Amino acid sequence: MCLNKECKVEPRDVLAHLHVMKLQLPDKTIDEIRAILGVAAVTKLSFNESPYGPSPRALAAMRAAAAKAHLYHDPESKALRQELAGRFGVQPEQIVVGNGGDDIITLLTQSLLSRGDEAVIPLPTFGQYAAAVTLTGARPVRLPVRQDMAIDLAAMTGAITAATKMIFLCNPNNPTGLMLDPAELRRFLAAVPPHIVVVLDEAYAEFVTDPGYLSGVGLLPEFPNLFTVRTFSKIYGLAGLRLGYGIAHERLTGFFNKARNPFNVNVIAQETGLAALRDTEFIRRVATLNAAERDRLTGALTALGYHVYPSQANFLFVDLRQNCAGIFEGLARKGIIIRPGTTWNMPNHVRISLGNKRQNLQLLAAWREIC
Ligand SMILES: Cc1ncc(COP(=O)(O)O)c(C=O)c1O
Repeated sequence: MCLNKECKVEPRDVLAHLHVMKLQLPDKTIDEIRAILGVAAVTKLSFNESPYGPSPRALAAMRAAAAKAHLYHDPESKALRQELAGRFGVQPEQIVVGNGGDDIITLLTQSLLSRGDEAVIPLPTFGQYAAAVTLTGARPVRLPVRQDMAIDLAAMTGAITAATKMIFLCNPNNPTGLMLDPAELRRFLAAVPPHIVVVLDEAYAEFVTDPGYLSGVGLLPEFPNLFTVRTFSKIYGLAGLRLGYGIAHERLTGFFNKARNPFNVNVIAQETGLAALRDTEFIRRVATLNAAERDRLTGALTALGYHVYPSQANFLFVDLRQNCAGIFEGLARKGIIIRPGTTWNMPNHVRISLGNKRQNLQLLAAWREIC
């Protein structure tokens, strides 16, 4: 069709600060990468996906739920929220669900932020915080991490102004994998004025093995301004299903529910999520495998002379002490895709999602060959 008439529509002014995601090689699908590189097989270690897939029980629930796709489903996701509430020892009214953690973050910012507000965000961290804040018309205030790559909580407290309405923390942080120090986190929360919402993104919490880890959920009675974000995309191996949830005080979940669409989480996601949650043995196994692979890869890359940040997640952040282009391209030629640090303006670094044992051994063998 020939569109020969000029379109005169203007967007909201905030869109001038947002960009359509430009897909680089690490963002493409496995099929696309295979075609671009002309390789038979691709090992994709750039999206922090689970190499272990979903639990068989989740897959069975998914198939069963597909037969109900012609009907509108429970708009309140009651069974899933009830199960999550029981799991975390909170009321179902304190749980909200959405299409992945991304959606939770977008709906939360849409329900709380307006033009003139500020949201404090560490740098580097997960990119969607700044994008979601910008879309509301509010201003993201980005604060660099410390020299040791830990989130600079003291600087974040110092950045609070009369306009601050929200603060984002990612624990463990993406891309560094570093966990917040529990004592520092507690001190920080005590210093934040109670009208400011602290978003604690715990997308990778289930991979944490450090017994000192402090989740936002248990802190809710003390800090009702906390909003914890979780996802089924990582340890549950359900990234393509799009399911995430938030845990917060009823006042905050009430605001959130005003901003969401009535049937926002589809029937397949609701029922698959419920089955995935109940397969606790599968999740325990994935966590154990992930921790073992994390140790293996951390040890091997350290032995090769790189600095590997101590990760509590399902990925490693590595300082190569040289530009990452050589290793990124060398691995890509062998069909192995990692995330170059240029994503965060840190060209000497890479982020590697942990694969299964076979994939990680393949990565190491390829790496040694390139070097
Ligand atoms: C820190 C963090 N939060 C949230 C998400 C969003 O995940 P999803 O929208 O798939 O639940 C991701 C995805 O990579 C992430 O790294």
